[in-house]
Amino acid sequence: MAERTLIIIKPDGIHRHLAGEIIRRFEKKGFKLAAAKFMQVSEELARQLYAVHQSKPFFEGLVKYLSSAPVLVTVWQAQGVIDMTRRMMGATFGYDAEPGTIRGDFGCSKGYNLVHGSDSPESAEQEIKLFFRPDEIIDYELADVDWLYGKND
Ligand code: RTP
Ligand code: MG
Repeated sequence: MAERTLIIIKPDGIHRHLAGEIIRRFEKKGFKLAAAKFMQVSEELARQLYAVHQSKPFFEGLVKYLSSAPVLVTVWQAQGVIDMTRRMMGATFGYDAEPGTIRGDFGCSKGYNLVHGSDSPESAEQEIKLFFRPDEIIDYELADVDWLYGKND
């Protein structure tokens, strides 16, 4: 099965009307949408998602940020999707992110950054489990799959 990743459109992405734009980029790239949920994240769930950062000085602020307003949680599937989505998101903050990336095109903050993406297959697997039951992740074939990937792929 192709790799999956968890992408969250964060509270500022929702409030700034950028959810459609961010989804559009991943859709047009050819990734397959496998699951989606619009929800308010509890502080407890935010702590679990970002547990690797719990000793960092920004941790409490990060937990408050993610749980401050609704988010759109999505799962995308494609071979190499983790690396590609990370590159499409850009550096952590828009202040540093390259133009052409999501964070580089739509933000200039050093605190808010619109989107979260898993950074390895292991974290993707753990993070997806935090938000979705197995039966909420849909397995299907995209209609244009033969045109997306060349014969040598
Ligand atoms: P993410 O996990 O959300 O996709 O972001 P990332 O990999 O680019 O960055 P990471 O180092 O994992 O940091 C997680 C989130 O913590 C906030 N952060 N604040 N104030 C700071 O120095 C700082 N550093 C990180 C950001 O919201 C970042 O997305
Ligand atoms: Mg991260």
